[in-house]
Amino acid sequence: MPSYAVTGASKGLGRELVRQLAAQSPSNTVLAIVRSNDASSPLSALAKAHPNIHIITGNVTDPQSILAAAQEASDILGGKLDVFIHNSNSVDMATFSHSPTQVPFDLEATKQFYEEPVRTAVWGAAWATNAFLPLIEKGDVKKIAHITSSMANNDVILGTGIDYGLAYSIAKAGMNVQIAKYAVELAPKGIKTVAICPGWVDTWEGPKPPQVVEALNVMLTQFQKMEPELKGQIPVEQSVAEQLRVIEALDAAKSGSVIKSKEYKV
Ligand SMILES: NC(=O)c1ccc[n+]([C@@H]2O[C@H](COP(=O)([O-])OP(=O)(O)OC[C@H]3O[C@@H](n4cnc5c(N)ncnc54)[C@H](OP(=O)(O)O)[C@@H]3O)[C@@H](O)[C@H]2O)c1
Repeated sequence: MPSYAVTGASKGLGRELVRQLAAQSPSNTVLAIVRSNDASSPLSALAKAHPNIHIITGNVTDPQSILAAAQEASDILGGKLDVFIHNSNSVDMATFSHSPTQVPFDLEATKQFYEEPVRTAVWGAAWATNAFLPLIEKGDVKKIAHITSSMANNDVILGTGIDYGLAYSIAKAGMNVQIAKYAVELAPKGIKTVAICPGWVDTWEGPKPPQVVEALNVMLTQFQKMEPELKGQIPVEQSVAEQLRVIEALDAAKSGSVIKSKEYKV
């Protein structure tokens, strides 16, 4: 019976969230929100195999687009939604390696550097959440989850020595603050919110180029400073199964917190 909407559903963790939720029960209704709907995509194939998946076009970084997506969702679901999961993420890989001393002395370049991840993590998260809020208010379960990152956790930054990923980490820190504000504001309506750290997950599609393998090896060495037993990235299936357990267990006492999908240290 429960209904779910997932943003950033075209690939990676978003698509796996859709897959597991649809497979859990044919009575679940799962809305996969994507920026563009490609009939030949793996998500379309998934929707053909699971009639309880509905693909909706909507861009979380465009207010009118995500409002239209929420209207389409409302038409499908009869005006109510149980769980909203904001998973979309935009990163500028050209500046992902930047640390604080590399912030350029150039206003436009600096705006662009910070804006790319913030547009999905902070204001895109707010537009998407606010667009679907009227449906969540009428739903039975009343849960909102945003997918964040341990890269925004100061203990992880200090423990691993990771100084790069500055704009991404700041954007996810903003997401964590915003989810706490939502928890406070929406508690009187019985709505619970959570920011979930999904772990370090292998969402790369296809063979990894040598420079990606090299970067992942550097990260692994850094993560092992906090978690020596860590062997590498975990599979998407494992991360999503753990994320769904976090959402299932979310209650008013935990609302507004940042929760790791498993007790990873990173
Ligand atoms: N993988 C990890 O190890 C890891 C670790 C910590 C946190 N996370 C978080 O987990 C979530 C999923 O990560 P992932 O690795 O599966 O995904 P990802 O490759 O970063 O992309 C997730 C989705 O974001 C959407 N997206 C990309 N660029 C966008 C843009 N400019 N505007 C709006 N939407 C955009 C895309 O969906 P559409 O094309 O459908 O719009 C895409 O499917 C993200 O929030 C990420 O930050 C991942």
